[in-house]
Amino acid sequence: MKHIDKRFKGVHALKGLDFDLCEGEVHALVGENGAGKSTLMKILTGIYEKDSGEIHYLGKMFHPQGPKEALQMGIGIIHQELNMMDHLTVAQNIFIGRESMKMKGLFLDEKAQNERARKLFEQLNMNIDPAEKLGKLTVGMQQMVEIAKAVSHNLKVLILDEPTAALTNTEIDELFSIMRKLAQDQVAMIYISHRMDEIHRITDRVTVMRDGEYIGTKDTDKVTKEEIIQMMVGRVIYEDPKQKSNVPADAEVVLKVTGLNAGRMVKDVSFSLHRGEILGFAGLIGAGRTETMRALFGADVSTSGIIEVNGRRAFISDPMAAVRYGIGYLSEDRKRYGLATGLSVEDNSIMASYEDFQKHGFMRKTQITETAQEYAETLKIKTPSLDQLVVNLSGGNQQKVVIAKWLIRNSDILIFDEPTRGIDVGAKSEIYHLMNELAKEGKAIIMISSEMPEVLRMSDRIMVMCEGRITGELDICDADQEQIMHYATMNN
Ligand SMILES: Nc1ncnc2c1ncn2[C@@H]1O[C@H](COP(=O)(O)OP(=O)(O)OP(=O)(O)O)[C@@H](O)[C@H]1O
Ligand SMILES: [Mg+2]
Repeated sequence: MKHIDKRFKGVHALKGLDFDLCEGEVHALVGENGAGKSTLMKILTGIYEKDSGEIHYLGKMFHPQGPKEALQMGIGIIHQELNMMDHLTVAQNIFIGRESMKMKGLFLDEKAQNERARKLFEQLNMNIDPAEKLGKLTVGMQQMVEIAKAVSHNLKVLILDEPTAALTNTEIDELFSIMRKLAQDQVAMIYISHRMDEIHRITDRVTVMRDGEYIGTKDTDKVTKEEIIQMMVGRVIYEDPKQKSNVPADAEVVLKVTGLNAGRMVKDVSFSLHRGEILGFAGLIGAGRTETMRALFGADVSTSGIIEVNGRRAFISDPMAAVRYGIGYLSEDRKRYGLATGLSVEDNSIMASYEDFQKHGFMRKTQITETAQEYAETLKIKTPSLDQLVVNLSGGNQQKVVIAKWLIRNSDILIFDEPTRGIDVGAKSEIYHLMNELAKEGKAIIMISSEMPEVLRMSDRIMVMCEGRITGELDICDADQEQIMHYATMNN
């Protein structure tokens, strides 16, 4: 790709960008949120049209008219946001548009199609039921289906736009072994990720971009993580684990959960949360952490259990009730539960605090704009204006809007479910700083995170879950990755 240029209204997203990719290599593409990574990949796959520049593919000029043509030419993409249909089965999602038919093409051959999917999963070492409805799977599993779907197309180029954001460590290992296998078959891969350790594990070269500009390309084994970060943000960022809890021993309990049961994934969960505390919830994906928080928040029905807020029994039958009790919940699935992507940054920011901005039935527009503006600045949300539709923001910046929404609501108890998923290293440390400030102000925070360094860096205390139960509780001063893994894999 040579001198690629692209503008959106109010944004110069790509400024004469160069990028090249060799057969059989894994090439990392890194840069801060909004740097233009996804845009460049959408141009390569014909989703967006470039304003100027050239693409050469297999020695020829290449002008994909759309993703379908790119796919036919052997270029496939796994998008940052999941793009599948919940109500269809796993196999139907994989073979959409190229279904197995029977009776001279008159009827869908569900059985043959499931069998094809089963073979594909077997080949990829994935344990997924082809006949299951996609919506029943966790985000991580859905991501695996999307990967299988891409692989099933016999690609020459596979683009993976933050594929591991929702995967557990074991799933990441599986993905990497699939990638190594594809590389042996001479498939070239472009790998976008904000996780620096992954870059060194899986890629051969790394290209850094900043603000739509090309910064440089290096052999991965010849650069350090710190050097890559410095190319990305122009400064060095340190990440140290927390040494000891910041919560005083006599801090009051603001939330107490006793014997919570819900669905199949929440079994007899009990814990308490103190003022000023950041309570980490560690575990593998599928451990029941999100389900626990959804039940607590009234988003799913709980079958039994007692919830107390500030020492008084709380009856939470739906999220509105939870919000009234001062609980905020930042969903891990921002697209589905966290945002109204067809509305503006401003509308989304104040969405959880509507009543605070009303007076005698009128919306206080000036105050709304001021507040939204303030938080957009604090969180460094990259957007041409507050009127920009959220769907047009980069993935990481969408996540920041979800965070702004709950900060503006000013809840006393905040549940952050994978808060920094898809957030670049620079913005991540800003969000960490902000969470620490909130705790210092006396808010109580629950943080679900599948990234162990993040759990160890942020938490004052850590609860570990496995298969719907709490299997361990660790004080930050004696927690480490081995301890967490020990409890996270303790199947009864
Ligand atoms: N359809 C669109 N309309 C308007 N602006 C857009 C559109 N798509 C992207 N942009 C803007 O282009 C810039 C680059 O966005 P892009 O999604 O490529 O970033 P990214 O590097 O993938 O970031 P992230 O790591 O957060 O995913 C951003 O400022 C974004 O808001
Ligand atoms: Mg992106």
